[in-house]
Amino acid sequence: MDRSSFSLVTEFCGLKINSPTLLASGVLGISFDLFPRIIGSGCGAIVSKSIGLEPREGYRNPTMTGVEGGYLNAIGLANPGAEEYAKELEEEFSKKPVPLIVSIFADSPEHFADLVKKFDRFGFLGYELNLSCPHVKDVGSEIGSDPDNAAEVVKQAKRNTSKPVLAKMPATIVNVPQWAKTVESAGADAIVAINTIRAMKIDISSRKPVLSNRFGGLSGPAIKPVAVRSVYEIYENVKIPIIGVGGVTNGVDAIEFFLAGASGVEIGSAIGTDNFLDTFGIVNSGIERYLKKYSYSNVKELVGLAHN
Ligand SMILES: Cc1cc2nc3c(=O)[nH]c(=O)nc-3n(C[C@H](O)[C@H](O)[C@H](O)COP(=O)(O)O)c2cc1C
Repeated sequence: MDRSSFSLVTEFCGLKINSPTLLASGVLGISFDLFPRIIGSGCGAIVSKSIGLEPREGYRNPTMTGVEGGYLNAIGLANPGAEEYAKELEEEFSKKPVPLIVSIFADSPEHFADLVKKFDRFGFLGYELNLSCPHVKDVGSEIGSDPDNAAEVVKQAKRNTSKPVLAKMPATIVNVPQWAKTVESAGADAIVAINTIRAMKIDISSRKPVLSNRFGGLSGPAIKPVAVRSVYEIYENVKIPIIGVGGVTNGVDAIEFFLAGASGVEIGSAIGTDNFLDTFGIVNSGIERYLKKYSYSNVKELVGLAHN
C-alpha cells in the first residue's frame, strides 16, 4: 500500500479533521500567532486554554514541576477573561482562522451558558467544557464530578449554540459509565477523557510542597493507563464519540487510544518535551506506520477494536 492510499483524515460530531491528533487545552493554546504553525505541523485542531468569564492571573510560581513519568502543574486557570478573548477572536482568529475548539470553564451552568453566548458568533469548530480541572476551587472537577451537575452544564451550554459541545471528564470519576451516560443524555456531542489527576510533590529540603498551590494536576505518560481505561469504559456505555487525552507522546500511544474507542487524541505534555513543532509529525507518522503495517486505510477503522 503506498503512502497516499491511507488517510489520517477523521470525523467526529460532524467535524471533519485533517488528522486525529489535537492540541490539548492549556498547552500553547492561547497564542494565536502560533496557531497556523501548529496546524501546519500536522495538528488536526487546537483546543484553546480554558477561558472563564473574568480574567484570572493564576497561581504564583512555581506552577509546574517534573515528576516521575510526567509533570505536575497548577497554573490556576490563568486566562484573559471572556471580554478580552472575544476581542482576540475578533481581531486575530477571524483574520487567520484555523480549526479551533474553545475550552471554557465557569462556576455554574448559567455562567457556562454566558460564555457560549459571548463567543458563539465566531467561526470556530465547537466548545470543550472544562468540567475537570483538579486544582482550582469551585470550578472544574468540583462541579463536573457530579454527573447531574455536568449534565446541567451541557444542557445550558447547548441552549446557546448549534456548534458541537465536548464534555471533558475529570480523571477521578468512580462511576464512569453513569457519568458518560448522563452527559450523553443531556446532549453532549462528544466526551474528552481525561484531565490531569490531583497530585503533589514535596521538596525534602524545605519540607514543603513544591507547587505554590500545594496541589497540582499530574499529566504525561504516568496517566496514560488511567486515560486509556477511561476511554475504554466510556466506549462501552455511550454512542457519542470520545477524544482520548493523557500521556500521548508517539504513534503507538495514539493507536492504543483508538483501539480503546477514541476517535481522536489530544496531546499536552509531550508538546513541552519535544520541539513542539515536531510532536504532531512524530505522532502522525507513527500512526501511519501502524496503518501501513496492518493494512488499514484509515484511522476510523481502528476505533474500538479492542472491544471485539
Ligand atoms: C500546563 C498545563 C496546563 C493545562 N491547562 C488546562 C486547561 O486550561 N484546561 C483544561 O481543560 N486542561 C488543561 N490541562 C490538561 C490537559 O489539557 C490534558 O488534559 C492533560 O495534561 C493530560 O494530557 P497530557 O498527558 O498529554 O498532558 C493542562 C495541562 C498542562 C500540562
